[in-house]
Amino acid sequence: MYQNVKDDIVDEASIKLMVDTFYGKVRQDALIGPVFDAVVHDWDEHLPTMYAFWTNLIFRRGDYRGNPFAKHASLDVGREHFVRWLQLFEATVAELFRGPVSEQALNAAKSIAHSFQVRKGIDPFSA
Ligand code: HEM
Repeated sequence: MYQNVKDDIVDEASIKLMVDTFYGKVRQDALIGPVFDAVVHDWDEHLPTMYAFWTNLIFRRGDYRGNPFAKHASLDVGREHFVRWLQLFEATVAELFRGPVSEQALNAAKSIAHSFQVRKGIDPFSA
């Protein structure tokens, strides 16, 4: 009866599960998968960076020191890529977790995606 009740994001194991599940979806996606394939040659390096990024963002700890926007400035992506990225992220969070921390992760992702688009000169509200 209760096997479908989900927990919130509570620790680094949750972050790892979220990141691994999300990039599993990303890599299979026909629209944004190829953008990652062109740049990420070593996923064993990229995934720990993403664990560190989300650990820093959610739990305010760890050793992530980076400039995420810089890595996206020259990517040739448009509004549709950001829409897809967010769809996959939202599906990942909804599938795995429920609760305020997972809401916070989702809100952070939306807000960062919004700011990346604005900084890239993409209108985040276009159809
Ligand atoms: C169109 C949507 C997006 C695409 C195609 C994309 C693609 C990429 C790629 C290819 C990299 C690796 C860059 C490199 O190693 O040179 C990367 C890194 C990264 N992305 Fe994204 N990204 C997108 C949206 C986002 C969003 C919305 C966030 C924030 C929640 C985000 C957070 C990051 C972070 C933290 C890194 C690692 C930066 C570092 O190395 O310090 N990305 N992304």
